Amino acid sequence: MELNRFSLPVAAAIMMINASLLVQGCLEEERTALLQIKTSMFDPDYMASALLSWGNDALCCGWPGVYCDPITGRVNEIDLFNVRGWFMDHSTGVWSRDASKGDWYLNATLFLPFQELNTLGLGMNDIAGCVANEGFEKLSRLNKLESLYLGFNNFNNSVLSSLKGLSSLKHLSLMGNQLNGSIDTKDFDSLSKLEELDLSGNEIQNFVTSTGFNS
Ligand SMILES: *[C@@H]1O[C@H](CO)[C@@H](O)[C@H](O)[C@H]1NC(C)=O
Ligand SMILES: *[C@@H]1O[C@H](CO)[C@@H](O)[C@H](O)[C@H]1NC(C)=O
Ligand SMILES: *[C@@H]1O[C@H](CO)[C@@H](O)[C@H](O)[C@H]1NC(C)=O
Repeated sequence: MELNRFSLPVAAAIMMINASLLVQGCLEEERTALLQIKTSMFDPDYMASALLSWGNDALCCGWPGVYCDPITGRVNEIDLFNVRGWFMDHSTGVWSRDASKGDWYLNATLFLPFQELNTLGLGMNDIAGCVANEGFEKLSRLNKLESLYLGFNNFNNSVLSSLKGLSSLKHLSLMGNQLNGSIDTKDFDSLSKLEELDLSGNEIQNFVTSTGFNS
């Protein structure tokens, strides 16, 4: 059979359009969950937030900070760095946020619908902790979660116990938070896959090493 010389490029173009729809479109349930995150986190005083445009169209894999697996079309990365409003003072080079905004508490359960989630970034959002019974322990069912970036928030030592069940974690950053005093390395025992841990920029005095920690 002789191939029509136009059919191949046309077929390729159609396939590319299909692929891009698959990449940018997303599951209804994940889109709904992303909109709940927006409702929960968006601060109307911060109109530069990446969250602002979420929901303007239905193609949630193309929303800022949202990435999807090109094959399954499921969300595999959510990066919400500074979505609640820190500002750079260009004369001093210092980042700051309206102090009157105060601490903010996260509902980690909002991320539970993303069963393929590999990377979650929540840096620089003034998060002081999680709301009662909706802490990071809820995410232990996300068994593909490998990277959790919580830097530049206001987490204190109590965050560590809530991370114990996240056994698939390889990269954890808590840099620039309010951790202080003694840290028991036992808190990291169950994170057996951990390759990288960043606790810099805290007020940690020392590490108490209990049995079972060997890295
Ligand atoms: C946290 O989010 C979940 C999922 O949206 C919701 O069911 C729950 O009521 C929320 N909890 C609080 C305390 O707002
Ligand atoms: C640590 O953070 C939690 C909120 O996650 C809060 O309830 C607790 O009071 C804080 N502890 C201290 C010593 O500030
Ligand atoms: C750690 O910080 C908390 C406030 O977040 C404070 O209450 C506590 O005394 C501090 N502990 C040490 C050992 O510095």
